[in-house]
Amino acid sequence: MKHLTIAVLLVAVFGFTAFAMDKTMDKTMSKSMDESMSKPMENPMDKSMDKPMDKAMDKSMSKSMDMMLKADSAAVWKYITEVSPYREWGQFPDHMGMRKGKSPHGALHEVYVNGAGLTKGTPKPEGAMVVKDNFNSGEKLKFITVMYKVKGYNPSAGDWYWVEYSPEGKVLVEGPGSCARCHSKRADHDYIMVSDH
Ligand code: HEC
Repeated sequence: MKHLTIAVLLVAVFGFTAFAMDKTMDKTMSKSMDESMSKPMENPMDKSMDKPMDKAMDKSMSKSMDMMLKADSAAVWKYITEVSPYREWGQFPDHMGMRKGKSPHGALHEVYVNGAGLTKGTPKPEGAMVVKDNFNSGEKLKFITVMYKVKGYNPSAGDWYWVEYSPEGKVLVEGPGSCARCHSKRADHDYIMVSDH
């Protein structure tokens, strides 16, 4: 009788342990299942590709971007400040560095030109962009003026799109308007005042 009791007890203990283990297994199993289900399968290759791909895109984009960018003040601002920061561009060989300016622009200025804009001769090709930092006599940046050649934008005045920003990127003047009217004094040189390049 004693043996039987011990046997029954043992069975009970084993049984319970097995049952309890089963339960915890279930829990951990279902937890890891949940986790793997909620996250999409990650391909380790994808991650390692992320960075170089982005960089490569940026580079090829900034090359072809000149051509794709619309005459749009927000897009142009993003382009000249983020995609291809204009102060890293070249300058007209006959108008380098800080120069004295005339009204209505600042007392001092520095002019930056993208690759298309630096093509020798006029008219400049589509995508040409000229950006001018306008400073007061204390060399404080006051305005950023841009001319950007967009095919079909304004054929009667060299297809230039004109825009003036505050140093923070607020649009102050946009369109051909007075910009094109005054610059048309140099219509024979594709509306570019500062350079004969
Ligand atoms: C009353 C005449 C006048 C008006 C209006 C004018 N500009 Fe100019 N712009 C000039 C002169 C003169 C220069 C030569 C540099 C200087 O003196 O600052 C110049 C130079 C520039 C340049 C450097 C490239 C170049 O053509 O030499 C840019 C870019 C420019 N202006 C953009 C603009 C924009 C944008 C507007 C309109 C918001 C505008 N300008 C309105 C007279 C004018």
